[in-house]
Amino acid sequence: MAIEHLIFPSGNLATNTGLFWCTRTREGILVDPGGEPDEILDIALRQGVCIRTIVLTHAHIDNLAAAPFLREETSCGIAVHRADWNLWEAIEEQCKELGMPVPELPEIDEEISEGTPIQFGRERADVLHLPGHSPGHCGIAFPDLEICLVGDACFAGAAGRTDLWNGNEADQEHSLDRISKLPPSWTLLPGHGPTFAPGAVARARHQRSTNI
Ligand SMILES: [Fe+2]
Repeated sequence: MAIEHLIFPSGNLATNTGLFWCTRTREGILVDPGGEPDEILDIALRQGVCIRTIVLTHAHIDNLAAAPFLREETSCGIAVHRADWNLWEAIEEQCKELGMPVPELPEIDEEISEGTPIQFGRERADVLHLPGHSPGHCGIAFPDLEICLVGDACFAGAAGRTDLWNGNEADQEHSLDRISKLPPSWTLLPGHGPTFAPGAVARARHQRSTNI
């Protein structure tokens, strides 16, 4: 296996954060750094990983709070689906509504989109556009590892909510259909809480999560 990875919670809402790297080049991507940037940087340094890109499943504050510091420290890029760039720019509105401090955000460097793999070292991750929780919500898939980070589209016991900024219920239903049809052997990592299998979506979709 030429990809190694670590999954760990970060930030006040214990967002599941993923560091994936190419074992031959030590270049990696960091998915959803929700907070605690110093700790995340330490993890990358201990592994000898150079973070090439911070990738967001979606641009909610609890998925990106550590991104400004890490970008400054590592000169990595920040990649977000184009349909969530408005959310990134509306960070002040998000934070005020949630009573959270407003971070100063840099510009987004690049967009991710379905059909265009994210490169790191000699490896790549696939992008699945899974809108509903937010317009540009994406799953980040590693077929060789049989892992997909599904962000807040679905959790182990409930589907992601659609009542936040520009959420869409019809899109969410379509995205849940797609997630449920991923290979049964795959492990799905949600934005918060424990992993689950695609077969669990059928039951989870009848509940709505309160996660942001
Ligand atoms: Fe979210």
